[in-house]
Amino acid sequence: GAAVEVDIAGLKEGEKITVEWRGKPVWIVKRSAAEVADLAKHDGQLADPQSKRNPDEFTPEYARNEHRSIKPEILVVVGICTHLGCSPTDKFQAGPQPSLPGDWPGGWLCPCHGSTFDLAGRVFKNKPAPDNLPIPPHVYLSDTRLLIG
Ligand code: FES
Repeated sequence: GAAVEVDIAGLKEGEKITVEWRGKPVWIVKRSAAEVADLAKHDGQLADPQSKRNPDEFTPEYARNEHRSIKPEILVVVGICTHLGCSPTDKFQAGPQPSLPGDWPGGWLCPCHGSTFDLAGRVFKNKPAPDNLPIPPHVYLSDTRLLIG
């Protein structure tokens, strides 16, 4: 399918926009500096903190870093669970959540079988989803224009 151009000039911290690319939901999320800094704190809880597994399929070279993104604050990720393809529920805040550990750092929860992902789309250990959420190919055309695909 065709590449999708997105204007992210109006995207504010804590917001997410969803665009469709090749029939899939792609999330563009603006994280705060604190959220980006916190990503380094829970590597031990993750199945693949460095996104080393199947990198050609899940993480383009320019996103093989702790924040899994080109710009540290902007995450561009396919919102489809790598287990059986449900769409994870939006951005839980840090803190106690029903049926989640008390040290949950925030991110996404898959409603189908309980896989959890952090704010870089990295999957937590011992969950059915085997892989981190995929990062689609993308490039910045300017500071605020993004081309996905
Ligand atoms: Fe997401 Fe099974 S489809 S945990």
